[in-house]
Formats: sequence, structure tokens, C-alpha cells
Amino acid sequence: MRLIVGISGASGAVYGIRALQVLHDMGVETHLVITDAALETIRLETDYKKADVVRLATETHRLDDFASKIASGSYLTDGMLVIPCSMKTLAGIATGYSDNLLLRAADVALKERRRLVLVVRETPLSLIHIENMAAVTRAGAIVLPAMPSFYQRPKTVEALVDQVVGKALDVLGIDHRLSRRWSGPEKKRSVLRHE
Ligand SMILES: Cc1cc2nc3c(=O)[nH]c(=O)nc-3n(C[C@H](O)[C@H](O)[C@H](O)COP(=O)(O)O)c2cc1C
Repeated sequence: MRLIVGISGASGAVYGIRALQVLHDMGVETHLVITDAALETIRLETDYKKADVVRLATETHRLDDFASKIASGSYLTDGMLVIPCSMKTLAGIATGYSDNLLLRAADVALKERRRLVLVVRETPLSLIHIENMAAVTRAGAIVLPAMPSFYQRPKTVEALVDQVVGKALDVLGIDHRLSRRWSGPEKKRSVLRHE
């Protein structure tokens, strides 16, 4: 499997890093593109250096490299995951304004009718954000807000992160064991196990 992973500058850089770790461990070929704002959130929100993140991907592409293979529809992929997806990147995708490689790769995913999953993060939402989400949804993308649930009683931040990453992998059709699946209420309450 070959996946493009975009990390943009919304809060929650850890979602993108965790997704890369999991895909790396699964042997999925990943093509990473990181925005400048994401480098800032990675620095502010995590202990990871850019090099640590780059190491998790099979290949990393420069944000201004429009000659990159992932800028072309003729380069076959199984889809693209933008995690986290800022409102600015969402707006670029919604309008087809592809002035960086992440936006161009997402534009390509849409025009080639490939799976595009946007793990958006912002709160509260303006009408502009909501309308952009509607526009990308009409164009075929899946908007998957970074919105973990609590019915499994997660005990750690890592468990919450894994739940969001797991949900994104679900819609990409990638099997995983990041979180326990809900199978109805049990007699004895269970907790979310983080592995
Ligand atoms: C610490 C930090 C947190 C941010 N969180 C968000 C966020 O949750 N959602 C969002 O849309 N923008 C957020 N931003 C603003 C974006 O980084 C900014 O709009 C940037 O232009 C996005 O560029 P990009 O989409 O090219 O990465 C945040 C910025 C910083 C520094």
C-alpha cells in the first residue's frame, strides 16, 4: 500500500506523528509532506525534531517541489491522509488553490477520485470552515474531525490520539489494533487498552 501523508499546522501534530509511526510499523509506503506551520506546531507541541518525523516516512517531499512525483496523477497511490488538517489547508483544498505540494497532492487525490481523508482541527468553527468542509465532502473527500469519543473510558492522551488515528485508518481501509472496537455494553466495564 502507498499513502501520501500531509501534516499541516493545526494543533495536534502528534496525530500526524503517531499515524506515521503506525504506518511505518505496518510496512505501508508513506510519502510525507510537511507545511512550514506544521514544523512550528511539531516544535511547540512535541519533543520531536523534524528529522525524527522525516525518519518515520518512506520518502519526504519538499513543500515547494511541484516536480515531485506526488504532484502528478500518473503516480499511483492508494490515497492521502492530511493529519492534522488546518483550516487554511482545508480552504486551499476546497478551492483548488494548490500553491504548495500538500495542496497539490490533495487536489490530485480528488481529481483522480482517490481517497482523501482530512483530520481537521479547529474550534469553534466559522461558517467559512463549515462551508469548506461541505465543499471538500461534495468533491469526494472524507472530513474526519479530531474528535475522540469517551465511551471506552480512555485513560491516557495516547489512547485518545490512537483512537483518532485508528478512525482515520478505518476509513482508509487499513486494518489496525489501535483501539478496542465497540461491541455493545459489557457487564463489567472495560477500559480502552493502549498498546
Ligand atoms: C500552536 C499553534 C496551533 C494552531 N492550531 C491551529 C488549529 O488547531 N487549527 C487551525 O486551523 N490552525 C491552527 N493554527 C494556525 C495555522 O498554523 C495557520 O493558519 C497556518 O497558516 C496554517 O498553515 P498550513 O495549513 O500551511 O499548515 C495553529 C498555529 C499554532 C502556532
